[in-house]
Amino acid sequence: MTAAQWWRGAVGYEVYLRSFADGDGDGVGDLPGLLSRLDHLAELGVDAVWITPFYPSPMRDHGYDVADYRGVDPVFGSDTDLDACVARAHELGLRVVVDLVPNHSSSDHPWFRAARSSRSSAYRDYYVWRDPAPGGGPPNNWVAHFGGSGWTFDAATGQYWLHLFLPEQPDLNWANPAVRDEFDAIIAFWLDRGVDGFRIDVAHGLVKHDDLPDNPVAAQPDAVELGAVVSTWETLEHRYDVDQPAVLDVYRRWRAITAPRDAVLLGEVYLLDPARLRRYLAGDGLDLAFWFAPLHVPWDAQRLRRVLADGAGLPAGRVAWVSGSHDRSRAVSRFGGGAVGRARALALSTLLLGMPGAAFLYQGEELGLSDGAIAAADAQDPIAVREGALARTRDVCRTPLPWAPGPGFGFTTAERPWLPFGARTDADTVAVQRDDPGSMLHRYRRLLAVRRDTPELRAAPLDWLTDAGPVVAYRRGDAIVAANCGDAAATLALPAGAWTVAFASRADAEGGDAGDEFPLAPAEAVILRRRSG
Ligand code: GLC
Repeated sequence: MTAAQWWRGAVGYEVYLRSFADGDGDGVGDLPGLLSRLDHLAELGVDAVWITPFYPSPMRDHGYDVADYRGVDPVFGSDTDLDACVARAHELGLRVVVDLVPNHSSSDHPWFRAARSSRSSAYRDYYVWRDPAPGGGPPNNWVAHFGGSGWTFDAATGQYWLHLFLPEQPDLNWANPAVRDEFDAIIAFWLDRGVDGFRIDVAHGLVKHDDLPDNPVAAQPDAVELGAVVSTWETLEHRYDVDQPAVLDVYRRWRAITAPRDAVLLGEVYLLDPARLRRYLAGDGLDLAFWFAPLHVPWDAQRLRRVLADGAGLPAGRVAWVSGSHDRSRAVSRFGGGAVGRARALALSTLLLGMPGAAFLYQGEELGLSDGAIAAADAQDPIAVREGALARTRDVCRTPLPWAPGPGFGFTTAERPWLPFGARTDADTVAVQRDDPGSMLHRYRRLLAVRRDTPELRAAPLDWLTDAGPVVAYRRGDAIVAANCGDAAATLALPAGAWTVAFASRADAEGGDAGDEFPLAPAEAVILRRRSG
């Protein structure tokens, strides 16, 4: 494993640790559980695993509230368990990417406890504190992602602290050089532990405008266009609280530490405007950034073409394509659920995996999982519990992974997992799908294998074969990737040459020769290769 910039063209897999596999029977996924199931990832054929936060945490945001950046929370296991996972992953040829949460810590972090204890604490300036506005109340109009004001008042010291997420997730002050030094050391610490890179949480955050001006009210909230419920967050235009150009200085500095060790900086830059995202990928910025637009696109050929083209227009090889995450309804459900939703989700994955750059699968995509149904009484996500926004809850995509039929679905031996399974059937499980050559699991395995065996998909330039109509299709040298994103049968006129079907979303369609006009059923996707000679 010595290839420089190992992440170029790699396929990663997001492990949402709490819901992956429970090794000790307490109902919560953990590192021993992950260790016991790493073979599944190797068999699937991914190159890397990204593990969501395992650090000590009061779990107000399920680990994205870190109380110690160098430890392992006992609910997830021990330092030894983590080292064992890294070692085993490496044996299996898998790189390990850990989650770094630098925008905010937990309010239980010793830095914040000290900061809050007194205005004169040496740690006060690790966070963003301000006096009340002249007439009283919060210093500006900023709001939090999970609802309410972005400021909470500390009566003891008479100032507000800033939090773009929960009050228990105080924002760190990146204008303070001491904070920068702390994270340099944290990054070096994990590199010494053998990890291969970092997924950077809220990578467009961190730096705020120095003067903390009010944000303008949003003219037309993005969410309206996307058909989602408008959250408090979307009522403002985020001009001064996120996406400040100076955040790039932080990544340049980190890159000087990670690049010599061939470790990746992969940003969760949640910006759906490619022009804004592009700045993070210029020169010595981030190595990779997720392109999240495919998580927000309806099943519509023209819109799909647009988000693919926008992503393909970003700096070459520096996009990480995704169609799901632990923060968003699963693609199968977004596209209508059932067999139709599954076919569409696989077609989207095919289109994404043919694109230049890296790609990540979110756990359960390889099984064709839909969202898990969660009753209000079982809600865990702070968006549901605190903001009361059940329609936007992230619990539905976080239900435990079903490994095998039976009580606990092979995920846990506990009577109840931390979050219900959400109406899974035996057919959803890894064990059943492994034995069924027609299953989603086998389709994803095959898709990854064809991607791996098709060097053009890493190197060749991209040419669009359609710019209208239901078939979305592009060519990468001697390979063609196509999907029918309409509701009726359609055909794709193939360029001259003898093409064979290397991958098909319908297993029985693989291996044959393709004629000049290639027929595609609704939601069918293929990768064709040109026969040599
Ligand atoms: C990111 C994470 C999300 C978390 C938030 C705050 O968006 O993916 O799960 O709640 O950051 O850390």
